[in-house]
Amino acid sequence: MAPSFALDPYLAGVAARVEGELRRAAEAGARGGPARLWEAMTYALLGGGKRLRPALVCATAEAFGADAGEGSLALRFAASLEMIHTYSLVHDDLPCMDDDDLRRGRPTVHKAFDEATAVLAGDALQSLAFEHLLGGPPGDGRAALLAGLLASGATRMVEGQSLDLEAETRAPDLDGVLDLQRRKTGALLAASVVGGAIAATGTDQGLGPAGLRLGLAFQIADDLLDLTATTADLGKRAGKDSAAGKGTLPALLGLEEARRRADDYCEEALQAFAGLGERAEALRALARFVVSRRK
Ligand code: IPE
Ligand code: IPE
Ligand code: MG
Ligand code: MG
Ligand code: MG
Repeated sequence: MAPSFALDPYLAGVAARVEGELRRAAEAGARGGPARLWEAMTYALLGGGKRLRPALVCATAEAFGADAGEGSLALRFAASLEMIHTYSLVHDDLPCMDDDDLRRGRPTVHKAFDEATAVLAGDALQSLAFEHLLGGPPGDGRAALLAGLLASGATRMVEGQSLDLEAETRAPDLDGVLDLQRRKTGALLAASVVGGAIAATGTDQGLGPAGLRLGLAFQIADDLLDLTATTADLGKRAGKDSAAGKGTLPALLGLEEARRRADDYCEEALQAFAGLGERAEALRALARFVVSRRK
């Protein structure tokens, strides 16, 4: 990566494009559907966030020479993936899960609406993701491959969430924590990179393992930020994981060793992207951002 790569404008550009797509999907749904449900879905979809997964999709597609602009398959997939991610956050915040009242700097969906609406909004965001992905021009076999990828990523995420809750009462060892984190976060991060490659070339380009490493680095960074960042910076409550008994690397290994492992996973991912040349500059900058971010 050229150290000077301007990541902020790149992230802002992806956010603008993907939010345009999310807004159009939400407006179309809201025209015919129950107002309260669609208001909650729109609130969740358009409530900020880093849009890191969409950026990884677009940057990977571009690394293989594809367009990731308006109307592209990469952007359509990026919006669908963000819908799945958003649903995962709405459910993650519920009282029966992490019981959080703040997300992306605003009240969580069950606080702004009510619990039943948050459950239903999450459910509908999940199916909307597939409706959106498969609603593009007919005859593109890549959309079906991407739907399979998204579905398996979403299933792994739920498996990880289940293991995450189990870990609160039965502390896993290091391998157990890595397994749960590979599922709850790694799978959808990996799907971003793999999906970008499929949208561009029709194959995964062997990027699954690098994507999973990036996902592990991302979750370890999230767990470190829970301990070191402020609620104001994060836009979500800091300092909750240890009281809840979450299975994290900082809890098992300490801050310094956890940080070292996150950096190692990030470096391993970067090595896999090294051969992609100049067109992968944004992808490499995003991989570094996964561990250097402050929120
Ligand atoms: C938070 O993800 C949930 C985890 C998987 C750790 P992000 O940190 O990407 O959340 P947003 O989308 O930017 O709000
Ligand atoms: C959540 O992990 C991962 C998901 C599948 C949503 P966390 O519970 O650590 O995410 P935050 O910290 O609430 O964003
Ligand atoms: Mg959680
Ligand atoms: Mg949580
Ligand atoms: Mg967290």
